[in-house]
Amino acid sequence: MSASPYRHHWQLDPGIVFLNHGSFGAAPTVVLEAQRRFQDELEARPIQFLAPERGLEAKLDEVRESVAKVIGADAQDIGWVRNATDGVNAVMRSFPFESNDEVLITDHGYNACSNAVRFSAERAGATVRVAAVPFPLEDSQQVVDAIVAEFSERTRLLVVDHITSPTGLVLPLEEIIRAAHERGILVMVDGAHAPGQIPVNLEILQADYYTANHHKWLCATKASGFLWVRRELQESVRPTVISHGANKPRPGRSRFLAEFDWVGTWDATTVLSVKPAIEFLEGLMPGGLTALMEANRNLALQARACLLESQGIESPAPVDMIAALSSIPVVGGSSGDEDGDLLKQRLYTEHRIEVPIFSGPSSCPRLMRTSSQAYNDIGQYILLSEALASLLS
Ligand SMILES: Cc1ncc(COP(=O)(O)O)c(C=O)c1O
Repeated sequence: MSASPYRHHWQLDPGIVFLNHGSFGAAPTVVLEAQRRFQDELEARPIQFLAPERGLEAKLDEVRESVAKVIGADAQDIGWVRNATDGVNAVMRSFPFESNDEVLITDHGYNACSNAVRFSAERAGATVRVAAVPFPLEDSQQVVDAIVAEFSERTRLLVVDHITSPTGLVLPLEEIIRAAHERGILVMVDGAHAPGQIPVNLEILQADYYTANHHKWLCATKASGFLWVRRELQESVRPTVISHGANKPRPGRSRFLAEFDWVGTWDATTVLSVKPAIEFLEGLMPGGLTALMEANRNLALQARACLLESQGIESPAPVDMIAALSSIPVVGGSSGDEDGDLLKQRLYTEHRIEVPIFSGPSSCPRLMRTSSQAYNDIGQYILLSEALASLLS
């Protein structure tokens, strides 16, 4: 089985079978080199580089345009955050919760982001409800139904993932957002995994708030992400760090942009590396980013079929909910290893395979999630299925 022809673009340790692009991404060498050049420029002329009016703002605007193209949005509605957790926090800490309000999350949500929701809502006396989304599931409509069933007269906000973390599911966002809006409920989307993994079009989605990482599937350097906010709501959304933009407008720019462009001295090279990262992904194979996303999904589906067969289990989710992540229940193994920590550790130490094993939603306590990126190949998942067979027998 031959290795991926794209592998040399990444600096990943060849001694490790790396199947966890999902957690923190991995930046290709050309992107790291581009960041290094920005860092050299910064250190040569710190003021010239970092002072917003001396050129940084214009450079950030160029990146904003290239991110806007990838996500089908207007560049003016995109602010920078360090990561998706930061984006969710900014919206939650700004949201005018009142004591009678309810905010709805799901049990497939990312723990850090659910914590941010709880912190802000409960501080205001609002209630957090959790929709239990089934897993395994047969149809994406089950997700819509599980969420709609928890809406009440008091629900003001829904916080939902575009692609879930432990279960790796692409959720039917358009239907979910429509159902929420019909009831006057605002929707914040945690899209941490979406840009670069699936086509994203915010104009079609019509969410109210959307945040995502650049460092995951857009392969930019760590740590950077964006927060998109519907124009009418931007006045009310403030970054997690209040800085100069709060009382010093920038000529011709909204306060939203001014505030999210400057949260105190920051490493702007992470955001500047996003444009070279998008260019890299667009140029990696004929057909650009669209072809890459399709290739990654095809590999994920092959990998999933191989693992399901070797584990002897049924598919836990329909293929239309799978992109480049795939989670399957892990059965068997040592007693006392219900959360799969020991299994994960043995896969790494004995088989040199990096793959996450998570506690899933209550219906499925132990899940293994594989990622598929251009540097992966099917032989790596075959190795994983063999290693699992030996460790779980
Ligand atoms: C759905 C989801 N949201 C948020 C995050 C948090 O990403 P970060 O730590 O970069 O903020 C993750 C990370 O894996 C995630 O899967």
